[in-house]
Amino acid sequence: MEIVVTGASGWLGRGACTRLEDRGWTVVGVSRDPDQAHRRFPQRLWIGLGPELEEAVARAGAVLNLAGRNVLEQSWTHEFVEAMRSSRVELTERIVSALGGAARDTVLVNASGYPVCGDTGDHEVDETHPASRDLVVGAIDADWEEAAQPATRSGRLALARIGIVLGEDGGAFPVLRQPFDQGAGVVLGSGAQWMPWIHYTDAVRLLVEMVDSPAYTGVVDVVAPGAARHEDFAGALAAALGVPCTTRVPAEQVQTSLGGAAELLLPSFRMRPAVAQRAGFDFGYPTIRAAIADLTHTTQPADATASLTSLS
Ligand SMILES: NC(=O)c1ccc[n+]([C@@H]2O[C@H](COP(=O)([O-])OP(=O)(O)OC[C@H]3O[C@@H](n4cnc5c(N)ncnc54)[C@H](OP(=O)(O)O)[C@@H]3O)[C@@H](O)[C@H]2O)c1
Repeated sequence: MEIVVTGASGWLGRGACTRLEDRGWTVVGVSRDPDQAHRRFPQRLWIGLGPELEEAVARAGAVLNLAGRNVLEQSWTHEFVEAMRSSRVELTERIVSALGGAARDTVLVNASGYPVCGDTGDHEVDETHPASRDLVVGAIDADWEEAAQPATRSGRLALARIGIVLGEDGGAFPVLRQPFDQGAGVVLGSGAQWMPWIHYTDAVRLLVEMVDSPAYTGVVDVVAPGAARHEDFAGALAAALGVPCTTRVPAEQVQTSLGGAAELLLPSFRMRPAVAQRAGFDFGYPTIRAAIADLTHTTQPADATASLTSLS
């Protein structure tokens, strides 16, 4: 059976495609530059963004829609915010319209992101939490989820509200660990904000599970069950690397250096993966300590609180 994967050349897409192929799917990767994608991943069929996209979607058994301009690619000018939005929403509208013309029911697993929950403070939310447009990327994610909705008329729709994916070779983790690698850990903002993290391996496994299993319908929080505050993450990382974590970077300073993208790290997103837990998904890295131990190649999760005792 064929599955169309947009964003297949991207960080999550690469892992998802390999796992889908292992599970028997024939992947058709979609790329803005299919020739270059083919040079990088020659074992896979690649198509571009012309009418071949609609043709591939109409004959596929499933679509995994991950494409979108990377939110960390550049500063958030008005033009770039519009590019982040249109690269997600317009492509999704095309996919949904092609699904409407397909001869049979098709599964659509559509990405979204944790900012769609808005700042939840200490209040824990699950998939029943309505989409919020309070944050810039949250509003884009809300539009993205809305654009995917008509796919419920042509098959099963699962919306993946993806958390901060922690992996060694992509996403935010290599950036977040830089000061720790230089010998001094930092806590961003108050540190009390909840960080909706998930280990890369679990994120890829859960996305593929969402394709394969009818247990996943509607919104699915793609986050780990062991919720952590930012200071828990920083403390665990400092302890694992054996460095102190004594510096707090005030929110205003984070805002000045990251600009709009500070909204990805400073608000509190306390999310619970209720749907995955109900479906019995077996998280390989359920706690932040286990994830950090794997990502830093340390065998024993160390005592995190010790690293934070002199935090100023
Ligand atoms: N990584 C995370 O922590 C995280 C967290 C929350 C949500 N998400 C969402 O999950 C999705 C996948 O994340 P990722 O980390 O794998 O992102 P990524 O590495 O940046 O990959 C995104 C892919 O989208 C494609 N793309 C970019 N602009 C496009 C456009 N205008 N039209 C069509 N395709 C375009 C690119 O493929 P080509 O260059 O081949 O065209 C790129 O490889 C993203 O949409 C992201 O918003 C990720």
